[in-house]
Amino acid sequence: MADQVYIFDTTLRDGEQVPGCQLNTEEKVIIAKALEQLGVDVIEAGFPISSPGDYNSVIAISKAVSNPIITALSRAVEKDIDRAAEALQFAKRGRIHTGIGTSDQHIYTKLRSDRDKVLERAVAAVKYAKKYVEDVEFYAEDAGRTDQEYLARVMEAVIKAGATVLNIPDTTGFCLPDMYGEKIKYLKENVTGIDKAILSTHCHNDLGLAVANSISAARHGARQIECTINGIGERAGNTSLEEVVMIMKKHPEINLTTNINTRQIYPTSQLVSKLMNMPVQANKAVVGKNAFSHSSGIHQDGVIKNRENYEIIDPVEVGVDKSSIILTARSGRAALNYNLKNLGIDLSKEELDTAYDKFLDLADELKIVKDDDLRKLAEELSSKSV
Ligand code: KIV
Ligand code: ZN
Repeated sequence: MADQVYIFDTTLRDGEQVPGCQLNTEEKVIIAKALEQLGVDVIEAGFPISSPGDYNSVIAISKAVSNPIITALSRAVEKDIDRAAEALQFAKRGRIHTGIGTSDQHIYTKLRSDRDKVLERAVAAVKYAKKYVEDVEFYAEDAGRTDQEYLARVMEAVIKAGATVLNIPDTTGFCLPDMYGEKIKYLKENVTGIDKAILSTHCHNDLGLAVANSISAARHGARQIECTINGIGERAGNTSLEEVVMIMKKHPEINLTTNINTRQIYPTSQLVSKLMNMPVQANKAVVGKNAFSHSSGIHQDGVIKNRENYEIIDPVEVGVDKSSIILTARSGRAALNYNLKNLGIDLSKEELDTAYDKFLDLADELKIVKDDDLRKLAEELSSKSV
């Protein structure tokens, strides 16, 4: 049996940190409900101390959504934790997500502290959060650049303090997949009590490795992946939910599964893109406009013969109606004929030859030949033949 990987969606917290993507409470509730339909296990609803808007959104989401765990972010600071707990008061299952930077970079040049004091603050924060909720997730910010042995010490201490989930963020997107996977393995093998907690990944995409790192970590024992719809988030973004979920689905041999209803992936992606006013890049894996579009003649011919010649995901599986054959000057007769047939236009072999010559002129002029252009082309041909 495949192992369950929990999907922790942080679109409404890390995702919403993208400049220009801010949402009001009503919009956040709409997205939270869509995430519930999608089947995410955890929704990070906001960072309540950061603004009254975030505080109110965590309350509204807690009231609107029943199945996923609702989590609120805090620093390892009592007033942050108080505010997070207050915002979570209506959550059916609430989790406080608290933490502190653990890399020397963060300890010495951001917190201006030292390793021992940071460890003490980490433990104190977890103990303080436990006064409010049973479920406390601890994040070791910049764990990607944190010394292994020190990270293991911090993790052991926060488990003793009651942390239920251990988040190992690659905050700066620095790690390589092997390195990040090894980090998880090291913690699994060297932290006493590690089996009492769930190890979580939280990867940023500065080197384009967030998805690969998350999967590597899951293959080494992490059982929660933190991610966002469309991979949005700080700087180059976070791990993309749709990509990690489909990787696990398409590779049953890695024995990992999720609760995601994959047919809701595309509608959720579109909703987030629309409400956040953030277009999805056309070549984005799984949800981009071109993810199921074929434009070269050789590929089109192959897909028309059997979709699986050039597609490893059935578009219906992720909520996209169907693959598309995009007609350009690179398309062949098979593609032209296929799209004409889809419009109910059946041509004989000779008619198709004539249509194809006209089509190529049109394609050079228009770049993409759309359905309306095809209808006109067919009308012209039939008026000439009478
Ligand atoms: O990237 C990061 O380290 C974070 C933490 C606050 C979890 O977003
Ligand atoms: Zn982050």
